[in-house]
Amino acid sequence: MTVRYTSIVSNRELSAIDRLLAGANDALRTIAAPAGRPARDNPAGLIKEPKLSASQKSHAAGLMRVNHAGEVAAQALYKGHAAVARDTSIEQQMQEAAAEEFDHLAWCEQRIQELGEEPSRLSPVWYAGAFAIGAASGVLGDKWSLGFIAETERQVVEHLDSHLDGLPVEDARSRAIVEQMRDEEVEHGQNAINAGAADLPGPVKRLMRITARIMTRTAYWV
Ligand SMILES: [Fe+2]
Ligand SMILES: [Fe+2]
Repeated sequence: MTVRYTSIVSNRELSAIDRLLAGANDALRTIAAPAGRPARDNPAGLIKEPKLSASQKSHAAGLMRVNHAGEVAAQALYKGHAAVARDTSIEQQMQEAAAEEFDHLAWCEQRIQELGEEPSRLSPVWYAGAFAIGAASGVLGDKWSLGFIAETERQVVEHLDSHLDGLPVEDARSRAIVEQMRDEEVEHGQNAINAGAADLPGPVKRLMRITARIMTRTAYWV
């Protein structure tokens, strides 16, 4: 007797499952420490570890934990946008930005550990929230999702500038990382504008600012 096996999963369903698994893999790779090897060298390179007081050290670690949480959210945002992007060149741009953001994530994690602390325990929350926001704004259409990215990156640059003011001057290792991240976030924002980002309505920008404030204040401590 011959037994015929019929596939209970269609090709279309398979590719949906593939995408889901790839998405879950991205999420785990982002949330679970260690993040894995960054594609590029850590900008702190061979800069000497500074002598910091206990309070300077924990302040620097807190700020780097905030930056790390921001990078967890950036991964999720870009992946969320890429998942629903309509234009393939925009999807490609999102994936490239996500790859650079992944280096930022890994560099921040390395620095937090050098400072003797751990990344935010709430990383899964930051990831899930940002993925949902990314996908939701992507569903509205590429020009809005690009607008969202441009505004996010603009606010992130402001943040990083404030961190450069707040980090101990002696902590050249953290500063080198934040400076390079800052330059690349400017570029991400500009790329989104060049690709046709719409200017978001004022209330949306304000809501984004409030959400970011909640995340940054929490991640400094936990
Ligand atoms: Fe980044
Ligand atoms: Fe960025």
